[in-house]
Amino acid sequence: MQRLYIQEVVTRDGFQAESSFIPSADKIALINRLSQAGYAKIEVTSFTSPKAIPMLADAEEVMSKIERGPGVVYTVLIPNLKGAERALRVGVDEFNLVMSVSEAHNQSNLRMTRADSATALGDVIRLAHDAKVAVNVSLSTSFGCPMSGMTPLSELMHWIDHFANEGVRGISICDTTGMANPQHVKEVCEQAQSKYPAMEWTLHFHNTRGMGLANALAAVEVGINRFDSSLGGLGGCPYAPGATGNVCTEELVHMFDLMGYNTNINLDLLLECSAQLRDLVGRALPSQLLLAGKVDRIYETVCQS
Ligand code: COA
Ligand code: ZN
Repeated sequence: MQRLYIQEVVTRDGFQAESSFIPSADKIALINRLSQAGYAKIEVTSFTSPKAIPMLADAEEVMSKIERGPGVVYTVLIPNLKGAERALRVGVDEFNLVMSVSEAHNQSNLRMTRADSATALGDVIRLAHDAKVAVNVSLSTSFGCPMSGMTPLSELMHWIDHFANEGVRGISICDTTGMANPQHVKEVCEQAQSKYPAMEWTLHFHNTRGMGLANALAAVEVGINRFDSSLGGLGGCPYAPGATGNVCTEELVHMFDLMGYNTNINLDLLLECSAQLRDLVGRALPSQLLLAGKVDRIYETVCQS
């Protein structure tokens, strides 16, 4: 059975876009439960400016109080050196650096040019190497940007080349607002993997236009084995117009499990966590699986009266 690595982002990508602050204790309790579910990686929070992302202003408290499970990589989103220094003080397994392939989204999200982001992240990478912390880079708007249209593959490859030369362990190719389609995904993944076969590639899809699962399947078909996804399908970048939720973890795992892949995830536990999350945010989640149940759910026969 081919192993697929599932990386949970709900407490970062999911919670960053919520309109009400989720109490720190609830975030910690959810992460502790998710840590038992078999994930390869959990993105706990982001060390961004609390003015930019007020929902994650409690990053230190959450990161330092969770109970870390064995075998799980605990990563955090980092936009600059200040964020990296904050994360080092509480101890993380990985820095997930972020910048956008699109100039317009980088300006909107990070208030910097791409060139300034690249310089700032270069300093963060050197700090991480000295501190022996692994580095992943998430390239937002890799397929398209809501403000500047489809992203040319040559521009994405330029930034992939840049960070490969900086010696990062992994790169996440992020479809921030669901602009990719399965054919596009295959082209991008094939080019990236053939140029850098030793890179740890992650695909990060949003289901904004209903193509999230199809895109994930297309990526698997060309050899990708690592995915970001969000419990319940929550998520979205507050600085990308029209952004909506990530591909939903329980739906992704359900699909891959049915197809015979090994995700290592306890799906029943995920569904319990997703129901808990729905109660926490106080509204229905995008997850269709949470509504319908797994494919082996058996209903009572309905008799017409
Ligand atoms: N953590 C905490 N505070 C930070 C910080 C960080 N990583 N980076 C900057 N700050 C603080 C500065 O100390 C300064 O504080 P002050 O006003 O009390 O002096 C203030 O924020 C402004 O600093 P500046 O360097 O001018 O940053 P900025 O306002 O231009 O914001 C970012 C730049 C990158 C910090 C901010 O845009 C950001 O955090 N963006 C993240 C967006 C995000 O996470 N989007 C979703 C993920 S895709
Ligand atoms: Zn995202």
